[in-house]
Amino acid sequence: MKVSELDTPCLLLDYHAMERNIATMAAHFASRSAKIRPHFKTPKTPEVARRQLAAGAIGITVAKLGEAEVLVDAGLGPILMANQVVGRQKIDRLMALLARGAEITVAIESEFNIRELAEGAKRSGQEASAIIEVDSGMHRCGTGDPAETVRLAGLLEESGIRYRGIMGYEGHAVLLPTEEERRDKGSAALAIIDRHVEALAEAGFPPEIVSVAGTGTFAIAGDWPGVTEVQAGSYVFMDGRYQAVMPGVFESALTLLTTVVSVHERYAVCDAGLKSLTGEFGMPASIDGRIQVRGLSEEHAHLVGEGFAALRPGDKIELLPSHGDTTLNLHDVYNLRRGDEVLEQWPILAARKFR
Ligand SMILES: Cc1ncc(COP(=O)(O)O)c(C=O)c1O
Repeated sequence: MKVSELDTPCLLLDYHAMERNIATMAAHFASRSAKIRPHFKTPKTPEVARRQLAAGAIGITVAKLGEAEVLVDAGLGPILMANQVVGRQKIDRLMALLARGAEITVAIESEFNIRELAEGAKRSGQEASAIIEVDSGMHRCGTGDPAETVRLAGLLEESGIRYRGIMGYEGHAVLLPTEEERRDKGSAALAIIDRHVEALAEAGFPPEIVSVAGTGTFAIAGDWPGVTEVQAGSYVFMDGRYQAVMPGVFESALTLLTTVVSVHERYAVCDAGLKSLTGEFGMPASIDGRIQVRGLSEEHAHLVGEGFAALRPGDKIELLPSHGDTTLNLHDVYNLRRGDEVLEQWPILAARKFR
């Protein structure tokens, strides 16, 4: 089948661009002591995670139990849950995965959560493993005080939970517009992580895992002494907002195919709107930038730019999502393409697995 024969709007995944992105990241970490544990919140399909593992990734990072369940069903791991798992229902789901033999380490940041994790482990007869989440400046989750991090490490051990180390995510640095800014803010965040590592080591809890970073800071973090792994995810598809701040490192592999349905003197309209394409990180554009989306409504996008004048109703065009992760989460399949050819379809098994 040809790409132009696909019904729209639909996602196109350039298989070879994705493979090159995986290979570029794998080559970067091949000679370093830190390793890549790619974040599954981007690809959301075991097909990609399997390829990342085959290329040398030491495991997979997830944000949600629903993502972990998809990976365990596919027999993939070990898994780092880089997020808080709070509440009886979720703890029981985690224990059910451990009971299936999955290797999962979860992030914790509070005594309350340690207690419920310990109770869940006791109830189910499982051994839980945890790392402590540190706030390295993003101010989302995580401990701010090294003394509190040390206290939590002690509590983990007392509670019979396997203490494995710490994590932090410098989300406030990853998308800064220049490499210099990313380096400055990223380094400041990693210096905060260092203070927690030092305090833990002094108290007799040297971390086995120090897990940090995203696509915008993978290189800085990968060379930072003491960092053992990097959680970058977006690099595998490289969406529009990332490509704008760090061009030339990875290739944009994911686009949305859409059909022009209406043409006017100053704009055209296509059949992709907010229900198939997100715009919270800026409006999407065509890969060559000649067609820009001016606005999105539920089922339509307004197209402008120098390339719009040549558009005719029925034309199919490709838009590069500014935020790939939230766009792909709206879809059920990737159409794998090589040039104009559709090779196969991959189900996006973890799409909308937000629980
Ligand atoms: C905890 C955590 N780690 C890693 C990442 C991966 O970041 P990126 O999308 O920059 O590759 C994210 C992204 O949201 C995250 O929340």
